[in-house]
Amino acid sequence: MRRAGLRQPALLLAFVVIATAQTSDAVPAPPARPPPPAPRAASRQPLLQLQGRFSPGAGSNSPYARLPQLMTWSASAATATFMGSANVTVTLNGSLLALPAADQPLALVKGNFPSCAFQFSLNGTVVGTGSTSPSRPVLTWRMGGLSKSAAHTLTITKTTEAKFGGAWLTAIKLDSGGGFLPPLAPPAAASGRRLLFLGDSLSNGYGNIGNSTCSKAKNAEFENSLLAWPSLVAAALQADYQLVAWSGGGLSIYTAANRLEWPEELRPRANPKTAELFQRADAMDPASLYDLRAWSPQVVLLAAGINDVGGLSLDKWGQIDTGKQGAPALEFWLERYLALAVQIRQAYPAATLVHVVWPVEVLLGIRTAEQAAIYLQYMAAAYSYLEAAGIGNQHLLQVKGTGFNSSSWCGQHPDAAAHAQIAQQVTTFLDTVVL
Ligand SMILES: *[C@@H]1O[C@H](CO)[C@@H](O)[C@H](O)[C@H]1NC(C)=O
Ligand SMILES: *[C@@H]1O[C@H](CO)[C@@H](O)[C@H](O)[C@H]1NC(C)=O
Ligand SMILES: *[C@@H]1O[C@H](CO)[C@@H](O)[C@H](O)[C@H]1NC(C)=O
Ligand SMILES: *[C@@H]1O[C@H](CO)[C@@H](O)[C@H](O)[C@H]1NC(C)=O
Ligand SMILES: *[C@@H]1O[C@H](CO)[C@@H](O)[C@H](O)[C@H]1NC(C)=O
Repeated sequence: MRRAGLRQPALLLAFVVIATAQTSDAVPAPPARPPPPAPRAASRQPLLQLQGRFSPGAGSNSPYARLPQLMTWSASAATATFMGSANVTVTLNGSLLALPAADQPLALVKGNFPSCAFQFSLNGTVVGTGSTSPSRPVLTWRMGGLSKSAAHTLTITKTTEAKFGGAWLTAIKLDSGGGFLPPLAPPAAASGRRLLFLGDSLSNGYGNIGNSTCSKAKNAEFENSLLAWPSLVAAALQADYQLVAWSGGGLSIYTAANRLEWPEELRPRANPKTAELFQRADAMDPASLYDLRAWSPQVVLLAAGINDVGGLSLDKWGQIDTGKQGAPALEFWLERYLALAVQIRQAYPAATLVHVVWPVEVLLGIRTAEQAAIYLQYMAAAYSYLEAAGIGNQHLLQVKGTGFNSSSWCGQHPDAAAHAQIAQQVTTFLDTVVL
């Protein structure tokens, strides 16, 4: 994970400088979360500390959120601290009819929707996993045998993305003598570092826990966003983070626009554009608006755009994929990329932009030679175009795929081992160049 020793003081010093610079900005970033008040009065209702985006979220008056909360984004996590109870029981309702009405039509274009996977941890140690699906929509997770005199910190993390579905966190129940305390701040909150990742399947970890026998139809079960590079980078840097990504999503085009068998109004919704996701609180709802002022990153990592070339020429089986489009024209792409950068800058004026260029070594099979050539040219052109447009405070990071072994990857997507190698490269870059 993180290198200890020599670089640590330099990194902390650099961080102080960044934090100071932000206070002089026109729209100052909010400070790191305040330490919770001393745990005294226990409540029967959980006080949730949220990491990532939720709906309805915490609201502006309190650092803590109340139940129920809709969980849609991959790697989003709710944390509660409790004591006085030997048991804890969590209920998640992933029934299609429980979802907001705006989200439900996705079931028409997506098989096995809604499906979700969750991870449960106590005091930072993983103690369980569970899932919801159309055939088993309600997940009840329970753990017993806990010491009543100790405070336990429970974190519930959604490990799959919104494209597969969402679920309501409806209840966290304790024994009759138990009570909730303000959650103990995780190390990420203490570090004050905040990272926003914008991307697609390659950021969500699509297929990263599957192998070459995986079947595409059941893809929710082959994804664990906590083993995808954004989560690994955040863990290595002890950073608070948001992962805003959608498998198949394009930067400049709707990649499902040619799915003529689907209702026209659902084609954009099946694979939304990065700029639309950036605005959303409920990842599945085009009309939902996330309060961008509620949380302000110092670094925005933009790993989007590779799907824009995914329909170009021959696909990986050597055939024209009629369900997709060709690559957009360069000028069109550059304008859309700039518009997204401007949108991010307006929301987070002081944040450094890092454009992450995906490893597309042709032998990996992620993209064909033609697609890789166009993608790499477009990414390099975007960086220069943004620079000329005065965006500034940006970096172009080319990730290397040297040494990756893709022979057993699921659906031509990196496995957990490749994600770990990518995370190492990105962490070193942020540590050395940005933070
Ligand atoms: C889950 O949601 C469905 C649909 O709203 C509802 O009928 C069901 O009672 C809920 N189940 C639980 C355990 O909350
Ligand atoms: C969680 O940590 C507290 C100390 O902070 C400890 O007393 C408690 O036993 C731990 N709970 C578990 C389940 O490890
Ligand atoms: C905890 O749950 C067990 C069943 O799993 C039950 O026997 C026990 O009474 C519960 N503890 C308390 C304090 O209610
Ligand atoms: C491949 O994945 C399947 C489950 O999808 C599993 O049953 C099988 O053991 C895996 N094969 C290897 C070599 O890991
Ligand atoms: C790649 O992985 C496969 C098993 O998944 C193994 O058989 C093969 O030897 C590996 N290749 C290299 C170059 O390590």
